[in-house]
This record gives sequence, structure tokens and C-alpha cells, in this order.
Amino acid sequence: MELLARAGKDAAWSSSRARRWNANACGIVESVRAVNITIIRKLLAPELLTQINARLGNAKWLDGLMTAGPTAARVKRNLQLEPGPEAQELSELVKKALLANDKFPPVALPRRITPPLISRYEVGMEYGAHTDDAVRSRDGIRTDLAATLFLSEPESYDGGELVVNNNAVKLAAGDLVLYPATTVHRVAPVTRGVRLAAVMWIQSLVRSQEQREVLLALHGAIARLGDHPVTVSVEAVQQNLLRMWAEP
Ligand code: NI
Repeated sequence: MELLARAGKDAAWSSSRARRWNANACGIVESVRAVNITIIRKLLAPELLTQINARLGNAKWLDGLMTAGPTAARVKRNLQLEPGPEAQELSELVKKALLANDKFPPVALPRRITPPLISRYEVGMEYGAHTDDAVRSRDGIRTDLAATLFLSEPESYDGGELVVNNNAVKLAAGDLVLYPATTVHRVAPVTRGVRLAAVMWIQSLVRSQEQREVLLALHGAIARLGDHPVTVSVEAVQQNLLRMWAEP
């Protein structure tokens, strides 16, 4: 299954190609497909990260089960920041950083974003394998993409990796990972220290991951073309595909 993990790591592989490859490698048809994971480094500037972590040091935490859907409730063992003005203010800071980042919009094509939920895992806590609720009951947001913003330095805790299909992700504090919410994923048990993270979900203008990938490829091509005579034609293709696929 090492091959399967490699397929998952290579975001450039199309899902159909990876499916064929997995079938060949394992001798069976696998239902697991390559996952498109995007990492955005340094989403939070160091000063902002320090400020957020200082405020979280004195925060009150509640059982994470209070925001778990029925599926997640069986496997969710963590703490969450107590709702209130402090949590709201910290959520706004994270959301603002996300919207100001230049890599996030072309990947996610965000239509709606949930308020970030700040979670804390102490030794022995974990979030077992689950899939996210498709539609959040409290605000009707369809969860196309999930995002985890790491707030603790990786050296300060053991375990606590976010595992999306077969891909383990553990990033520097201030880095964000964006992945399809359609996946089965989990947070591995923390065995030392404390893991702080902010998680949020995005309803995209374009529901299909494959269509978003096409639009992202066009976005990259346009950036590379710059002031080329064909740029306007490629932009027309990009906008017309978005017109066909967008659910504003
Ligand atoms: Ni989840």
C-alpha cells in the first residue's frame, strides 16, 4: 500500500489515473482515490500567531462533543474554545487572514465559510475516523472543503497528525491545509504536549473537486502567460466554465 500513499501525495495525478494505478498496483479495484491536498504556508504572520496563542493560553475550553454531528460524536475526543466574544474575535482574525491570502481563493473558490472552530487536544485526545456532515444544520453551509490551521509548533507535541485517507499532515504553526470534506479523515491521538488548531469548512462556488481543479489549472496558466496575446482567450474559457459551473 506504499504505492497508494504515494498516489495520495502527488496532487498532480488525476483521480481516474490514480484509480487505475491503484488497481494495477494492488491487484484489486480500490475505492480510495488520490486526494487533492493544498498546503498554504505561513497563513498567519508570526506576530498574529503569537497574539492568538497568548490569548488561547487563558481561554476556557469545553467538551468538543457539543459541536459534533451524530456520526462524529462516536469518535470525537477533544476540547473546544468556549463560545463568546473572545472566541468570535479570534475566529474573525483567522477568517480575515484566510481571505487576505492570495493562494486560498483560486483553490477554494469560496462562497461561504464557517466561523473557525478552535480546538485543543491534550494527551490521550483524538478525533477518530469520520466524514464531515455534508450540510451544517446551524447555518445550512454545504461542506465542500475542510481546512485545518495549525496553531502549535510540531515539536511541542507528539501524535496529533491530521490523516486524510492515507496522508498524514502535521504542519508548522501558522500553516493551513485544505482538503476535500468528502474524505474520511481523523486526528491521531496526542501522546505528548498540547495540539491547538482552528478548523473551518468552505462551501465553494463550484461543488465538484474535479471542476475546481480545471479552473485552478487555468488560473495557473493565465498567471504564467502574463501579457501574452492569447491570455484574453484563456481568460474567456476560464470565466465561461465558471459561468457554467458556479452555484452563486
Ligand atoms: Ni472532520
